[in-house]
Amino acid sequence: MSQDSIVAGSYAGASSSAGRGLWSSRWAFFLAATGSAVGLGNIWKFPYITGENGGGAFVLVYLACILVIGIPLLMAEVMIGRRGRANPEGAMAVLAKQAGASRHWRILGSVAVLTGFLILSFYAVVAGWAVAYAPAAALGEFAGLDGERSGALFGAMLGDPWKLAGFGTLVLLVTLGIVALGVREGLERALRFMMPGLFLLLLVLVGYAATTGHFMAAVSFLFDADFSKLSAQSVLVALGHAFFTLSLASGAMMAYGSYLPAGTSIARTALMVALADTGVALLAGLAIFPLVFANGLEPGAGPGLIFVTLPIAFGQMPLGQLVGGLFFVMLAIAALTSAISLSEPTISWLSEKFGIGRLKAVLLSGLALWLLSLGTVFSFNAWSEFTLFGKTFFDCLDYLTTNLLMPLGGLGTVLFTGWVLSRESVQEALGLDNPQLFKLWWQVLRWVTPLGILVVFLHTLGLFG
Ligand code: PFF
Repeated sequence: MSQDSIVAGSYAGASSSAGRGLWSSRWAFFLAATGSAVGLGNIWKFPYITGENGGGAFVLVYLACILVIGIPLLMAEVMIGRRGRANPEGAMAVLAKQAGASRHWRILGSVAVLTGFLILSFYAVVAGWAVAYAPAAALGEFAGLDGERSGALFGAMLGDPWKLAGFGTLVLLVTLGIVALGVREGLERALRFMMPGLFLLLLVLVGYAATTGHFMAAVSFLFDADFSKLSAQSVLVALGHAFFTLSLASGAMMAYGSYLPAGTSIARTALMVALADTGVALLAGLAIFPLVFANGLEPGAGPGLIFVTLPIAFGQMPLGQLVGGLFFVMLAIAALTSAISLSEPTISWLSEKFGIGRLKAVLLSGLALWLLSLGTVFSFNAWSEFTLFGKTFFDCLDYLTTNLLMPLGGLGTVLFTGWVLSRESVQEALGLDNPQLFKLWWQVLRWVTPLGILVVFLHTLGLFG
């Protein structure tokens, strides 16, 4: 039995880290973590919240949030995973024990597992929209759409529980099928071709957008900072999105970190993941906004930007069927690689905590996820009238995870890392050799990151600002 499992105590199945599997290389981890980070958040959410919040100034604030909150927390999570060599709850238990701290810190890990589980239940349904739209675009269903008809098409899909449940189920089946095969045979093998495919499609789409003649309008929309358009609310949106886009506080990065081979620099790899994630978000903006401007459409259309506004553009432009089809295939791949990472914390938690095999854990979590996902499906149709505090089931889940569980879990994790673990042990585990850089990271993690998160959280609760 390894030392870790003895420390983990009650963990029936944290029996040895040897049997858990490891990424074959630093590169494999980079692909997996980038696959987790790059998803609906980058291609669907980032462009529309940038559009809603006026463009350039919002992008700057978002970049600042990635730098002072996202990156320090990302490094902390990967480090906790690798040192604990267990699922998020198990890893927190191991580290708390080693630090001589309360065993209750493990609750933070359980909350992260729960957050990832809840997010996946609705993420799979939204990913299903992309899967449904890919063939629709490729088969020319968007030809000649105007705003009204495009809205009606989207509305008809949301109103059809069979269609939503069907595509959501398909996403869950593919996700869990890949995860069931294990870290190397499943995750790594799938990601090795999905990620390059995703980047290639994105570059093709940016290349196409550059030919529309409205590329520079998109560049100035994204990069000309007009701070008069920025509200306090925009800053909070940027902060929340930094969490979501880097897959923080949901167990994913801890779980992936737990398979990271020893000796890899966490600092450097995390930085590369954050850079790739931000690069994809900006490139997605450069692929989407030129089409929006070229077709005289509205950049601030909100959540419908991708599913209502873009189809109008695809229906009008040359090669629209091909480009539209490729766009939604890219979105589906991006969502799938994130969904895979969202399921890993629950599956490793179930199998390690209760000592059951991976396949059993996949089946159990799959059933629970599927039942919960039906709640999201029905919140767009049969249950759309049932609301709690004016929110549908889907809105409630989204609010609970993004606005409450993520900031709380993230805050707990930075406090645990910065104030409970010893500076020496963190420095050693992080592999950040440059003492000046480590000092900077350490101070930011101890002070700036928690204060930043606290401001958002209190504001969310309506206690502040
Ligand atoms: N980062 C993903 C995105 O931007 O779409 C979403 C996500 C994945 C959130 C995994 C949380 C997570 F654990």
